[in-house]
Amino acid sequence: MSKENVTYSGKKIFGEAEDFLPIHGTDYVELYVGNAKQAAHFYKTAFGFQSIAYAGLETGRKNSVSYVLQQDKIRLVLTSPLAADGPINAHINAHGDGVKVIALWVDDAEKAWKETTSRGAKSYFPPQKEEDEYGFVVRSGIHTYGETVHIFVQRKQYDGCFLPGYRSWDSDYKPSEVGLRFIDHMVGNVGWGEMNKWCEFYAKVMGFAQLVSFDDKDISTEYTALMSKVMSNGTGRVKFPINEPAKGKRKSQIEEYIDFYNGAGVQHIALATNNIIETVTELRARGVEFLRVPEVYYDTVLNRVGEIDEELEPLKALNILIDRDDEGYLLQIFTKPVLDRPTMFFEIIQRKGAQSFGKGNFKALFEAIEREQQERNTL
Ligand code: FE2
Repeated sequence: MSKENVTYSGKKIFGEAEDFLPIHGTDYVELYVGNAKQAAHFYKTAFGFQSIAYAGLETGRKNSVSYVLQQDKIRLVLTSPLAADGPINAHINAHGDGVKVIALWVDDAEKAWKETTSRGAKSYFPPQKEEDEYGFVVRSGIHTYGETVHIFVQRKQYDGCFLPGYRSWDSDYKPSEVGLRFIDHMVGNVGWGEMNKWCEFYAKVMGFAQLVSFDDKDISTEYTALMSKVMSNGTGRVKFPINEPAKGKRKSQIEEYIDFYNGAGVQHIALATNNIIETVTELRARGVEFLRVPEVYYDTVLNRVGEIDEELEPLKALNILIDRDDEGYLLQIFTKPVLDRPTMFFEIIQRKGAQSFGKGNFKALFEAIEREQQERNTL
């Protein structure tokens, strides 16, 4: 089998990813939610997503409704059931609102399904052609951690607004975008002792390679700990860090997630921006809530990360975190959970060379999360 000679930011920094599953990037992320209409309003108003497509009773669907939103390359699908007792209801009952589908854009969805299922992936559905007057797509799906699935989307012969079965959704209500550009990475939380199993899944079944790993010495505070490995496809466009809880004096934030989500699932979606100061200023003005690190973080941060292009004051005022690696630096901030249960949240990230994940911020960040856990009585 041929192997891709992986380079990342010009340097070969992780093992060999295999090229049997070329992926262009994330096609869409679908959340199963209790009220898709209201969730769509939230993502438009608070995060600046735009209305793209719709499917529901008016388009011939009987049992569910989906709203499709987009901002630059980020596409969200929000789906709710229209009747009782279906699989979407069961998902929401078990997990609350959460990510069901991480869809990946490929050139050949049949090959993607064959390559992954022949390597041990459990099929979600076999390749199927879906068509309408705008052409056709081929989609196929496999299961990953928890009840989360990957759907492979082949869309080069399709010209419609999203997928066959959807109609374009033109809304008069168009809050402006906030500068979110693409999905930088999506993190999965898995149960005790399951991190390696799922990293091996991404290596063996999908040909991903391991980028970095963090153990409980890297990611622990006085009270709580977790472990993490980052898996990446050959181009580095799709990156899936996988976390598992680790033993500490108190309950790990990963364990809290697993308790409330009832199993493994997507913990956070990191969205990239070219100007984090403008983006976060706008998000805050629209009511998005972020974790706060103490002001003392900013007393010493420049000693740690060295010179940066931005003024420190606006970063401090917005509570944006800074970290540096061999290749540059990055700016990042984390929202509080955006759902009722303390499960999924978003990260906003601006990379200025750095290809890492903010290891230098872990301690300050996890102490901020612990303060929130304390308030929820879940620490
Ligand atoms: Fe992240």
